[in-house]
Amino acid sequence: MANHVRKAVFPVAGLGTRSLPATKAVPKEMLTVVDKPVIQYAVEEAKAAGIEEFIFVTSRGKSALEDHFDRNFELYDVLTQRSKTAELEAVREAELPVGQFSFVRQPEPLGLGHAVWCARHIVGNEPFAVLLPDEVFKADPGVLAQMVAAYGQVGGNLIAVREVAPELTAKYGILDVEHDDGRLAAVKGLVEKPKPEEAPSNLSIVGRYILQPEVFEFLDRQERGAGNEIQLTDAMARLIGRQPFHGIRFEGDRYDCGDKIGFVAANVAFALSRPELADKLRESLEAVI
Ligand code: G1P
Repeated sequence: MANHVRKAVFPVAGLGTRSLPATKAVPKEMLTVVDKPVIQYAVEEAKAAGIEEFIFVTSRGKSALEDHFDRNFELYDVLTQRSKTAELEAVREAELPVGQFSFVRQPEPLGLGHAVWCARHIVGNEPFAVLLPDEVFKADPGVLAQMVAAYGQVGGNLIAVREVAPELTAKYGILDVEHDDGRLAAVKGLVEKPKPEEAPSNLSIVGRYILQPEVFEFLDRQERGAGNEIQLTDAMARLIGRQPFHGIRFEGDRYDCGDKIGFVAANVAFALSRPELADKLRESLEAVI
């Protein structure tokens, strides 16, 4: 059994109702932040963290995702003939290595836990990462790379966390913390979307996980939790006490691209970090504001 994290699961079956009407015919993961689809940020973060196999849990209407990571020969030929080197490079960057990415369907929206469970046979018996692509991070090194480094020290299960305003706990999975050194928090419990008065802390799960395959034993039970969905948080909670379980605070900025403000903010932040765009964008923004 491999000990290092080679595989990553990307749950991309969601309907994207928060971004309608944009997501009526286009998968929400294909909306662009500057000039790359949202999903590509998570895939590049995974690549930079050493991930070798990419598993997408999809649903109907998501075939644009498959095409995006595949090779487009026609485009290749045209760009080559026209000597469009930079464009060719951009297209190549979006490709995944042949035979190292796969797609599995989640036939019904039964929850995040169920989506991850759909990938169980492709993951097999080894640790794996989960990246929720709605969450885009501006971080160097990337958030998953930071987690892989910490995983080398503590092993077990590791989830990226950050403090949220106490009134927002009902939007997130929330940690019950045993002890905390300011970066790593040993977890003694997890609650999915508690009301503020019931939340054990305000430390929330953000969308990056490194998990042991035993989590599938609990997902197999298909138990329903918050919102009557099969929750990943509930299956993870069962691992506490059996295996090391830590939350890790990361360095970097987070953008919730499933939310209109988060999506626009991500576009501004990523564009401002591009030297060829920054000055002109600053001028345009000043004029608008
Ligand atoms: C999911 C998880 C939740 C986590 C959140 C992070 O919730 O269930 O524990 O805090 O992602 O984005 P969702 O946003 O899919 O409702």
